[in-house]
Parts: sequence; structure tokens; C-alpha cells
Amino acid sequence: MQQSAPAGLNAADLNFNPPQFPQQALADALLRHYGISGSLHALDGERDQNHRVDCPDGRQFVFKVSSPGEAPGAVDFQIGALQHLAGSAPELAVPRLIPSLAGSTREWIEDNAGVRHMIRLLSWLPGEPLSSGSALEPSIFRSAADFQARLAQGLRGYFHPHARHFVAWDIQRALVLDPGVQARVQPDALALAEGFLQRLEQEVLPRLPALRAQVVHSDGHTGNLLRPTAASQVVNGVIDFGDMVHAPLVQDLAVMIASFLRYGGMRFENALAQLESYNRVMPLDDADLELLHDMVLLRIVTALFMYDFRAATTENPPAWIAEERPDIVTALQLWLAIDRADALAQYRMACGRAAPRVSAPSKALRARREKVLGPSYRLFYDEPVQLVRGEGVWLWDAEGRRYLDGYNNVASVGHCHPHVVAALASQAATLNTHTRYLHENVVRYAERLTATMPAELSVCLLVCTGTEANDLAIRIARTVSGHEGVIVSEESYHGNSNVVGAASTCMYPAADQPAWLATVEAPNGFRGSYRYGTPQLGELYAAQLDGAIDKLRSRGHGTATFMCDTIWDSNGTILPPPGYLERAAAATRAAGGLFIADEVQAGFYRTGEQLWSFNYADVVPDIVTIGKPAGAGHPLGAVITTPAIAAAFAKTYSYFNTFGGNPVSAAVGNAVLDVLERENVQQNVIASGAVLEPGLHALRARFPFVADVRGKGLFWGLEIVKTAGSIEPDIERADRIINLLREDGCLLGRTGAFNNVVKIRPPLVFAPEHAQILLEKLGRAFAAS
Ligand SMILES: Cc1ncc(COP(=O)(O)O)c(C=O)c1O
Repeated sequence: MQQSAPAGLNAADLNFNPPQFPQQALADALLRHYGISGSLHALDGERDQNHRVDCPDGRQFVFKVSSPGEAPGAVDFQIGALQHLAGSAPELAVPRLIPSLAGSTREWIEDNAGVRHMIRLLSWLPGEPLSSGSALEPSIFRSAADFQARLAQGLRGYFHPHARHFVAWDIQRALVLDPGVQARVQPDALALAEGFLQRLEQEVLPRLPALRAQVVHSDGHTGNLLRPTAASQVVNGVIDFGDMVHAPLVQDLAVMIASFLRYGGMRFENALAQLESYNRVMPLDDADLELLHDMVLLRIVTALFMYDFRAATTENPPAWIAEERPDIVTALQLWLAIDRADALAQYRMACGRAAPRVSAPSKALRARREKVLGPSYRLFYDEPVQLVRGEGVWLWDAEGRRYLDGYNNVASVGHCHPHVVAALASQAATLNTHTRYLHENVVRYAERLTATMPAELSVCLLVCTGTEANDLAIRIARTVSGHEGVIVSEESYHGNSNVVGAASTCMYPAADQPAWLATVEAPNGFRGSYRYGTPQLGELYAAQLDGAIDKLRSRGHGTATFMCDTIWDSNGTILPPPGYLERAAAATRAAGGLFIADEVQAGFYRTGEQLWSFNYADVVPDIVTIGKPAGAGHPLGAVITTPAIAAAFAKTYSYFNTFGGNPVSAAVGNAVLDVLERENVQQNVIASGAVLEPGLHALRARFPFVADVRGKGLFWGLEIVKTAGSIEPDIERADRIINLLREDGCLLGRTGAFNNVVKIRPPLVFAPEHAQILLEKLGRAFAAS
């Protein structure tokens, strides 16, 4: 039953020589055997001579003539499959067999040399192949996998004595190891595949026979799968059963993933989406998942080798061989670059299975850390991550797993941006002192930074952290106003010094707040005193400033400042409603205080359209504080104010900060500004925000526990609630979501008064394609939560 692959393969063995009957002979045969006449239009075919038949009455058919080398049993195998599917899965659009006048599913014709060829007539499936028409969106990857899985489901239980026939593309045959094939493969392909070929023989092939097997279509590529129209993103049919074979079930999926890779921007995430969809219909087991990555690899290498083999052994190789080859090479490089353990963890996750446990060394590190750093320190995630490397929007842990960073705003221009690293290293290798000596770097940085602000804000004091910036800002406000009182939002976070720590109301019980502190609500239209849709929402929330000012006065304090985030982070990503900042600043100033805008979170194009988020409002703050993203990982912050305020402060205080604004820090700050200017960071934030916004709202529509989606650019909060329509926070689910994402290789965080808001706040170089990946991963985590 099983036919072995010819050793030392030759072109003739592959049977890539469709018959070449003249159309008139075919038209005669059609009429004679099927009573059908119509115009014939040649179609591609690797082994069969194929034509579309257009009848005058509008009916369409596919007329197939097999090559004489094709074993009749192989054709019979296909015919049987189509008959089986007509019964087992009648809803699937696959070609149907048209019986001849004699009632047979096959007939024969003879060529001039008297050689008999089998002929078949099939129904024509309407639709457009996925390989033409509009670009493939994530939904069609899923739809294709779903279709292919239902096809496999329909074929389950079908068997035929020819089911193990020889097909060159059948990846379980591993023709890539055949010396006849390897002899015709170009050196670059051999070099790329070399390491894998070794592993293939020793580790992959021996395990294939143990996998669950059945008859599979094994050819779900974008040329064979159809959609109703060229613009559609749904698969509704499949053609070409010529590669169908008895093989491991997972081969069906591997073939699909490998060929789709080329049409989806070479994205691993599409493979995960396809796996998830396939597994939903045809659940795969652990052994399938363990071999999936190598099966895809085998298919890509098979494609590359077959292309080279065919180019080398065919007289006039089709043009698509040369055209498509570079894409196959890219796909191979991409697949080889993916860490297999990481991939397996993600496959398991996509199929709803737990990721491998964290290894012992990381547990030991955790224990040491707890002992020596004490209990105040917290770690993210149930299984904390030990990060060892970063690049752009990606982070790697100690076990080599890769994570998409959707959380870390500090690495503003991406982890370890080479320009920033080079600037840091070069200045560190030259000189580092402090700001009591003249240095070009610090002056230039302060000039560049203030140039991005409204003209009034032209004086810059450099610090190391957001805390220091806010601490200094409050001191300036107190000194200049002559008052002590500070107003902040409830659940605020501004840093960790004594004063700023007290102004960080999310960090300690409200009863412990000092007398000089008063709070107002953050303008939370989802769960605050005034909800979305309330007219004058901004003004209503800002009016709470009057009450806070009165409260301070009743305790004997004037108002030195109102300090707020220009997007509230610790409150759960709250954007200031229109009118809020203007009204709040006016109330503060009327009480003799200064308005401090904390841009530590919201600054540096975080929201895309504006470099500084206070710019969305019609207000110029008296003091702006910046931190985190300024140094892209290096400690750097600043306080920016007016010359008049700076002068008033200087009457009482001189200012010195040993490390703030040192030549190395200033070099880093300048390098970050260079990147922002040169690398279209702003456009990137806008473009990625334009992907996230509709994508997050679509997820909200799918998952009712996502009660609110708010944000802008690359700063988003997703409010997770217990029941649709309520505001009851679902802290446990938010926690599960974050942990599921971590298992799926994506880092996000939680925020808000209840810690139930999923926070998205990635590096600013998080591109639209990363946004897509994030949306897919979020969808998976939501579904599994
Ligand atoms: C809005 C805001 N301000 C200030 C700070 C304090 O910055 P740092 O941690 O650099 O002291 C933070 C830190 O999270 C913050 O989110």
C-alpha cells in the first residue's frame, strides 16, 4: 500500500508535466462523454491539464485531464474524497463530481500516441483565490484555518488504499533530505536549512509516525482557498485535492501556516491565530503542538527546495518560481529566528493550555530578592518575569522567551535604542561631572526642551526622577506663592519623597493625609460623581477645586498649588474632559497658587497629536514636570517654568542636584530628542493609536466585561467589570488577563483605584503591526479569562 519515495529524485519522478491536449480534442471529449459544449479556458495545473468550461447557459465546470504518469488509484482517491465530503460535510464548498453520460465519475481519452488519460468533470466553485484581491487581514487567517479544520473534520473517517500515495510536497516524505533534490538546491537555501536538516532526521521524522493521522487536504494555501469576492475577508471554498494524503493531522495546519506566512506580512502572530482557530474545530494534542513548529519549518524548506529543484530540472520553469523564491527565503529566515521553546509556549497558550513552568533559577533569584530587598518591593505577575535583554518593543527573559512590551513607557524610543546607547556610552567614556561646570550638553538639552514648550515656559531645572521634579515643583510653588497647601487628585501618584509621597494619595490611607493636603476627584466620567454625557463635565469636576481650596483655608493653609497628571495614570487612564484644566488652573491661580502639570506619564508624544498633553487644553501651566520617558531608561527629569517664577524662587533658594542634568544624562536627553525628531515617532504613535482605537472598541463589543475603553495614541485603559452595564470592578479577571498575556508573551499592567483597569502604555516606537499583535493577544487573553 505504501509507496516509497524514489531515492535520488529526478524531475520525471515529480510528474510535473501536465498533458497537452489541443482544446478541440478536449471539446470533443466533453461533448461525447458529458453532453456538454462550451468555451474552454486554460487553468494552471502542476500535474493535470485543467480548463474552465463556460457553457452558453451560464453553467461553469472544471475539466481535468490527468497525466499518464498519475496512478489511477491516486485519482480514484480524490474522487472518493469528494464523494465522502458530499455526505460528511455537505455545507463545505468543495468541487462536486459531475457524472458522465454513462453515469461514471471518470472517463478516458487517448492521445495521438494511443496513451490513455483519465478525465473528470467537476463543478466550478465561484469565488476569488485569496492570493489575488485585497490584502489579507487577521480575520481571514482565522477564517481560512477554521475552513481547513472543518475540511479535515469532514475527511475524518475517509480512507482509500491509495491514501499513502507519493506526493512530492507531502512533508512527511521529507524529500528535502533526498540527495537528488539537494543536488539541485541553490547554496543559500542549503546553508539556511543545514542545521534544521540534521535535526529533522534525528528528532522530527522519527516522531511523525506517532502523531494522530488521517486523510488531510494538505494544500490549504492562498491559491487554493477561495473567498466570495476579491475584497472579502472570509474563506468560503477550497479547490485542488491533488496533494491530499494520509498524514499527521497537524501537517494540514503546518502547510497552511507556512504558505500563509508569505501573504500576511510574515507575522508569527497570524500563525498563532490560525492555530487557535484550527484547534477550536479540530483540537490538537500536546504531541501535535510539540512538532508544529518543525512541521512548518519543514514545509517552508520543502517549498524552497522544490522551487529550486523545479527551476533546475525544468526547461522553461514558470515565472512565479523566481518571483516567489525571495519571499520563501524570508519566511524561512523568520521561522528559523523564532525561539522554539518560546513558540511552543505560545502554541500551548493559543490552545488554552498552560505555559511551561518558570524554571528553578528564577525561583531562587526571587527568594534572594525577597530576603535582601525586603517586603516593600513588589513584582509583577503570578510568575514574575526575569528580563535579561530588550530591543525596540521586545523584551527577552532569562529562558529566551520573547515578550511584546505593551507597558513600559520609560523605554520611550524603544529598549536600548542604539542612538541613545551610543550617546550615553560616548559621553560616559569622555566626561561626567555635574552642573557646576559649564558644559554644552546640558545647555543644549535645556534649550531644546524649552523650545518644545509654550514661549512663557523658558527656564529648565534638571533632575533625575519624576519624584525630584515634582518635589522641586512643589517647593517652587510654595516659595513663590507663600502658601503651604497642596491640592492633588484622589488616588494620585506623583512620586516617593516625603512631600511628594504625601501628595501620592494612592499610596497610603486617606486618614493619614497631612493637613496641608486636600484632594479632588479625578474627572472619571465612567465611575466618578459625574458620568459621561453630563453637560459641562469638565467644569463640574474642576469646580471641586473650590471646595478643596476652602478646606485648606479652614485648616489655616493657603493654596500653593494644584498638581495633576495631564492624563491620570494611577486613576485608570483618565483624559481631562474639555474645560477641566482651564477651569482648574484658573481656580488655583485665583487662590494665589500655581498650576503644576505633571507630564511624567502623558508627555513626549504619548498621546500622539501633541508632544505635551496639557497642549490639548487652552492652558499654559505655571510649572511642567517631566521624567520617565525623557531619558529612555536613564534617570532624567526636568522642571520647566517661567523666568518670573524661576527668579522669584531663586531669591530664596539656590538649586543644585549632583546627578541631575550631568553631561551623560544631558547627552542621553539630547539623543532621545534626536530620535523623536528623526524617526517619525509622532506619526508612529498616531498610526498605532489609529489601529488600537477601533481594535479595542471591537474587543469591547465582543467581551461585555470590558466596560470602558479610554485613551489616545499609545495610552489606553480598559475598565474590567463584573457584569455588563455595571461599574463593579472585576479585579480578579483583570489580574487573570494580565497573567494570561504574560504567558502569551505580552507585558501589560493594571491601574486605577481598584486595579481593575488594564493599562496599555508601550514604548512610543510600538508600530501598527505591534498594535495588531497586541489586539490578537488581548482577544485570546479575554477569551481565556
Ligand atoms: C505621574 C507621575 N508622576 C511622577 C512619578 C514619579 O516618577 P519617578 O518614579 O521617576 O520618581 C510617576 C511615577 O510613576 C508618575 O506616574
